[in-house]
Amino acid sequence: MKGILINGSPKRRDSSSGALLDDLRSLLDPGTETAVMTVTASHPAASSAYTGMRWEPAPEDVKQLSGLSFLVLSFPLYVDGIPSHLLSFLTELEWQQKNNRLLESAEPLAVYAAVNCGFYEGKQAALALRIVENWCLRCGFEYKQGIGCGAGAMLAQLKGAPLQKGIKKPLGTALKDMAARIGRLEKGKDQLISLSFPRPLYIAAAHIGWKKQGRENGLTVKELKS
Ligand SMILES: Cc1cc2nc3c(=O)[nH]c(=O)nc-3n(C[C@H](O)[C@H](O)[C@H](O)COP(=O)(O)O)c2cc1C
Repeated sequence: MKGILINGSPKRRDSSSGALLDDLRSLLDPGTETAVMTVTASHPAASSAYTGMRWEPAPEDVKQLSGLSFLVLSFPLYVDGIPSHLLSFLTELEWQQKNNRLLESAEPLAVYAAVNCGFYEGKQAALALRIVENWCLRCGFEYKQGIGCGAGAMLAQLKGAPLQKGIKKPLGTALKDMAARIGRLEKGKDQLISLSFPRPLYIAAAHIGWKKQGRENGLTVKELKS
Protein backbone atom coordinates (compact mmCIF):
# COMPACT_ATOMS: atom_id res chain seq x y z
CA MET A 1 0.00 0.00 0.00
CA LYS A 2 1.35 3.42 -1.00
CA GLY A 3 0.63 6.73 0.67
CA ILE A 4 1.88 10.28 0.78
CA LEU A 5 2.39 12.40 3.87
CA ILE A 6 2.13 16.13 3.13
CA ASN A 7 3.82 18.56 5.51
CA GLY A 8 1.95 21.84 4.99
CA SER A 9 3.89 24.02 7.41
CA PRO A 10 5.50 27.05 5.77
CA LYS A 11 8.59 26.45 7.95
CA ARG A 12 11.52 24.94 6.10
CA ARG A 13 12.67 23.05 9.20
CA ASP A 14 11.73 22.25 12.79
CA SER A 15 7.99 22.42 12.24
CA SER A 16 5.45 20.81 14.54
CA SER A 17 3.65 19.48 11.46
CA GLY A 18 6.81 17.62 10.42
CA ALA A 19 7.42 16.27 13.94
CA LEU A 20 3.83 14.95 14.02
CA LEU A 21 4.31 13.20 10.67
CA ASP A 22 7.52 11.55 11.95
CA ASP A 23 5.53 10.20 14.89
CA LEU A 24 2.73 8.94 12.65
CA ARG A 25 5.23 7.30 10.30
CA SER A 26 6.81 5.42 13.22
CA LEU A 27 3.40 3.84 13.95
CA LEU A 28 2.44 2.80 10.41
CA ASP A 29 2.69 -0.82 9.36
CA PRO A 30 6.31 -1.37 8.21
CA GLY A 31 5.03 -2.67 4.86
CA THR A 32 3.43 0.69 4.06
CA GLU A 33 5.27 2.66 1.38
CA THR A 34 5.29 6.35 2.34
CA ALA A 35 6.96 9.47 1.03
CA VAL A 36 6.89 12.92 2.62
CA MET A 37 6.12 15.94 0.44
CA THR A 38 6.97 19.32 1.95
CA VAL A 39 4.73 22.13 0.76
CA THR A 40 6.17 25.51 1.72
CA ALA A 41 5.21 28.80 0.05
CA SER A 42 7.89 28.25 -2.61
CA HIS A 43 6.26 25.05 -3.92
CA PRO A 44 5.11 25.88 -7.49
CA ALA A 45 1.51 24.78 -6.74
CA ALA A 46 1.47 26.82 -3.52
CA SER A 47 2.51 30.01 -5.29
CA SER A 48 -0.05 29.65 -8.10
CA ALA A 49 -2.53 31.98 -6.37
CA TYR A 50 0.07 34.77 -6.35
CA THR A 51 1.59 34.14 -9.77
CA GLY A 52 -1.74 33.37 -11.46
CA MET A 53 -0.02 30.47 -13.22
CA ARG A 54 -1.49 26.98 -13.29
CA TRP A 55 0.71 24.32 -11.65
CA GLU A 56 2.38 21.93 -14.09
CA PRO A 57 3.33 18.88 -12.02
CA ALA A 58 6.91 17.77 -12.67
CA PRO A 59 7.46 14.09 -13.66
CA GLU A 60 8.65 13.35 -10.09
CA ASP A 61 5.39 14.84 -8.70
CA VAL A 62 3.35 12.64 -11.03
CA LYS A 63 5.37 9.60 -9.93
CA GLN A 64 4.93 10.45 -6.25
CA LEU A 65 1.20 11.17 -6.53
CA SER A 66 0.07 8.27 -8.72
CA GLY A 67 -1.16 4.91 -7.47
CA LEU A 68 -1.80 6.23 -3.96
CA SER A 69 -4.17 4.52 -1.54
CA PHE A 70 -4.04 7.27 1.07
CA LEU A 71 -2.91 10.83 1.71
CA VAL A 72 -2.18 12.45 5.08
CA LEU A 73 -2.24 16.23 5.42
CA SER A 74 -0.37 17.65 8.41
CA PHE A 75 -0.49 21.42 8.83
CA PRO A 76 -0.62 24.27 11.36
CA LEU A 77 -3.90 26.03 12.06
CA TYR A 78 -3.84 29.57 10.66
CA VAL A 79 -6.72 31.91 11.61
CA ASP A 80 -8.96 28.91 12.28
CA GLY A 81 -8.28 27.63 8.77
CA ILE A 82 -5.71 26.33 6.30
CA PRO A 83 -2.51 28.38 5.65
CA SER A 84 -2.98 30.23 2.34
CA HIS A 85 -0.01 28.60 0.57
CA LEU A 86 -1.41 25.15 1.40
CA LEU A 87 -4.89 26.19 0.27
CA SER A 88 -3.40 27.18 -3.10
CA PHE A 89 -1.65 23.82 -3.29
CA LEU A 90 -4.90 21.97 -2.53
CA THR A 91 -6.79 24.06 -5.11
CA GLU A 92 -4.22 23.12 -7.75
CA LEU A 93 -4.35 19.46 -6.74
CA GLU A 94 -8.14 19.61 -7.12
CA TRP A 95 -7.77 21.11 -10.62
CA GLN A 96 -5.24 18.42 -11.59
CA GLN A 97 -7.50 15.71 -10.24
CA LYS A 98 -10.58 16.99 -12.10
CA ASN A 99 -8.80 17.63 -15.40
CA ASN A 100 -5.95 15.13 -15.52
CA ARG A 101 -6.94 12.49 -12.93
CA LEU A 102 -3.54 13.08 -11.31
CA LEU A 103 -4.36 10.98 -8.26
CA GLU A 104 -6.01 8.19 -10.21
CA SER A 105 -6.63 5.02 -8.21
CA ALA A 106 -9.12 2.14 -8.23
CA GLU A 107 -10.78 3.27 -4.97
CA PRO A 108 -11.43 6.89 -3.95
CA LEU A 109 -8.28 8.25 -2.29
CA ALA A 110 -8.47 7.93 1.52
CA VAL A 111 -7.61 11.25 3.19
CA TYR A 112 -6.51 11.70 6.81
CA ALA A 113 -5.63 15.08 8.33
CA ALA A 114 -3.72 16.24 11.41
CA VAL A 115 -3.93 19.90 12.36
CA ASN A 116 -1.74 21.24 15.13
CA CYS A 117 -2.55 24.58 16.69
CA GLY A 118 -1.11 27.20 19.00
CA PHE A 119 -4.18 27.37 21.22
CA TYR A 120 -4.34 24.85 24.03
CA GLU A 121 -7.60 23.24 22.91
CA GLY A 122 -7.59 20.84 19.96
CA LYS A 123 -11.23 21.74 19.21
CA GLN A 124 -9.87 24.95 17.66
CA ALA A 125 -8.98 22.79 14.64
CA ALA A 126 -12.52 21.43 14.10
CA LEU A 127 -13.35 24.00 11.39
CA ALA A 128 -10.12 23.36 9.46
CA LEU A 129 -10.92 19.64 9.44
CA ARG A 130 -14.35 20.44 7.93
CA ILE A 131 -12.59 22.48 5.22
CA VAL A 132 -10.43 19.43 4.42
CA GLU A 133 -13.57 17.26 4.35
CA ASN A 134 -15.24 19.65 1.88
CA TRP A 135 -12.12 19.65 -0.29
CA CYS A 136 -12.30 15.85 -0.35
CA LEU A 137 -15.92 16.02 -1.56
CA ARG A 138 -14.94 18.38 -4.38
CA CYS A 139 -12.08 16.09 -5.44
CA GLY A 140 -14.00 12.80 -5.19
CA PHE A 141 -11.75 11.67 -2.33
CA GLU A 142 -12.93 10.11 0.90
CA TYR A 143 -12.32 11.99 4.13
CA LYS A 144 -11.53 9.32 6.71
CA GLN A 145 -10.39 10.94 9.95
CA GLY A 146 -8.83 14.02 11.46
CA ILE A 147 -6.81 14.94 14.53
CA GLY A 148 -6.82 18.41 16.08
CA CYS A 149 -3.84 18.75 18.40
CA GLY A 150 -3.94 21.64 20.88
CA ALA A 151 -0.71 23.04 22.37
CA GLY A 152 0.81 21.79 19.11
CA ALA A 153 3.40 24.56 19.08
CA MET A 154 5.38 22.43 21.55
CA LEU A 155 5.65 19.43 19.22
CA ALA A 156 8.76 20.61 17.39
CA GLN A 157 10.61 20.72 20.73
CA LEU A 158 9.35 17.28 21.73
CA LYS A 159 10.94 15.28 18.91
CA GLY A 160 11.83 11.80 20.13
CA ALA A 161 9.74 12.10 23.33
CA PRO A 162 7.76 8.89 23.96
CA LEU A 163 4.24 8.62 22.57
CA GLN A 164 3.06 6.06 25.14
CA LYS A 165 3.48 8.26 28.24
CA GLY A 166 4.03 11.82 29.41
CA ILE A 167 3.26 15.02 27.50
CA LYS A 168 2.66 13.33 24.14
CA LYS A 169 0.45 10.50 25.40
CA PRO A 170 -2.88 11.95 24.15
CA LEU A 171 -1.33 12.51 20.72
CA GLY A 172 0.25 9.04 20.79
CA THR A 173 -3.16 7.45 21.45
CA ALA A 174 -4.78 9.45 18.63
CA LEU A 175 -1.96 8.70 16.16
CA LYS A 176 -1.97 4.98 17.04
CA ASP A 177 -5.68 4.85 16.24
CA MET A 178 -5.14 6.76 12.98
CA ALA A 179 -2.19 4.56 11.95
CA ALA A 180 -4.27 1.40 12.49
CA ARG A 181 -7.15 2.89 10.46
CA ILE A 182 -4.75 3.88 7.66
CA GLY A 183 -3.63 0.22 7.54
CA ARG A 184 -7.26 -0.79 6.84
CA LEU A 185 -8.18 2.42 4.93
CA GLU A 186 -10.91 2.75 7.51
CA LYS A 187 -13.00 5.73 8.61
CA GLY A 188 -12.87 7.00 12.20
CA LYS A 189 -14.15 9.81 14.39
CA ASP A 190 -12.16 13.05 14.52
CA GLN A 191 -10.04 13.30 17.65
CA LEU A 192 -9.64 16.74 19.20
CA ILE A 193 -6.98 16.57 21.89
CA SER A 194 -4.47 18.66 23.86
CA LEU A 195 -1.00 17.64 24.90
CA SER A 196 -0.75 16.51 28.51
CA PHE A 197 0.70 19.72 29.94
CA PRO A 198 -0.91 22.13 32.44
CA ARG A 199 -2.81 24.87 30.59
CA PRO A 200 -1.62 27.80 32.79
CA LEU A 201 2.03 26.74 32.35
CA TYR A 202 1.56 26.45 28.58
CA ILE A 203 0.09 29.96 28.41
CA ALA A 204 2.83 31.38 30.66
CA ALA A 205 5.53 29.75 28.47
CA ALA A 206 3.88 31.16 25.32
CA HIS A 207 3.96 34.70 26.79
CA ILE A 208 7.66 34.34 27.66
CA GLY A 209 8.34 33.05 24.13
CA TRP A 210 6.51 35.94 22.40
CA LYS A 211 8.31 38.54 24.52
CA LYS A 212 11.67 36.91 23.73
CA GLN A 213 10.89 36.77 20.00
CA GLY A 214 9.77 40.40 20.11
CA ARG A 215 13.02 41.50 21.80
CA GLU A 216 15.08 39.55 19.25
CA ASN A 217 13.24 41.41 16.50
CA GLY A 218 13.49 44.85 18.09
CA LEU A 219 9.92 45.05 19.46
CA THR A 220 8.88 46.03 22.99
CA VAL A 221 5.99 44.36 24.85
CA LYS A 222 3.91 47.53 24.31
CA GLU A 223 4.53 47.37 20.57
CA LEU A 224 3.61 43.68 20.53
CA LYS A 225 0.24 44.51 22.10
CA SER A 226 -0.57 47.48 19.85
C1 LIG B 1 -0.33 33.54 10.76
C2 LIG B 1 -0.61 32.58 11.89
C3 LIG B 1 -1.92 32.31 12.25
C4 LIG B 1 -2.20 31.42 13.30
N1 LIG B 1 -3.50 31.19 13.65
C5 LIG B 1 -3.79 30.33 14.67
C6 LIG B 1 -5.15 30.09 15.05
O1 LIG B 1 -6.10 30.61 14.49
N2 LIG B 1 -5.37 29.25 16.10
C7 LIG B 1 -4.35 28.62 16.76
O2 LIG B 1 -4.63 27.84 17.69
N3 LIG B 1 -3.05 28.82 16.40
C8 LIG B 1 -2.74 29.66 15.38
N4 LIG B 1 -1.43 29.86 14.99
C9 LIG B 1 -0.36 29.12 15.67
C10 LIG B 1 0.11 27.88 14.87
O3 LIG B 1 -0.97 27.07 14.48
C11 LIG B 1 1.08 27.06 15.74
O4 LIG B 1 2.18 27.86 16.10
C12 LIG B 1 1.54 25.77 15.09
O5 LIG B 1 2.03 24.92 16.12
C13 LIG B 1 2.68 25.96 14.07
O6 LIG B 1 2.92 24.71 13.45
P1 LIG B 1 4.14 24.41 12.48
O7 LIG B 1 5.39 24.43 13.33
O8 LIG B 1 3.86 23.06 11.91
O9 LIG B 1 4.16 25.48 11.42
C14 LIG B 1 -1.13 30.77 13.98
C15 LIG B 1 0.20 31.04 13.60
C16 LIG B 1 0.45 31.94 12.58
C17 LIG B 1 1.89 32.23 12.19
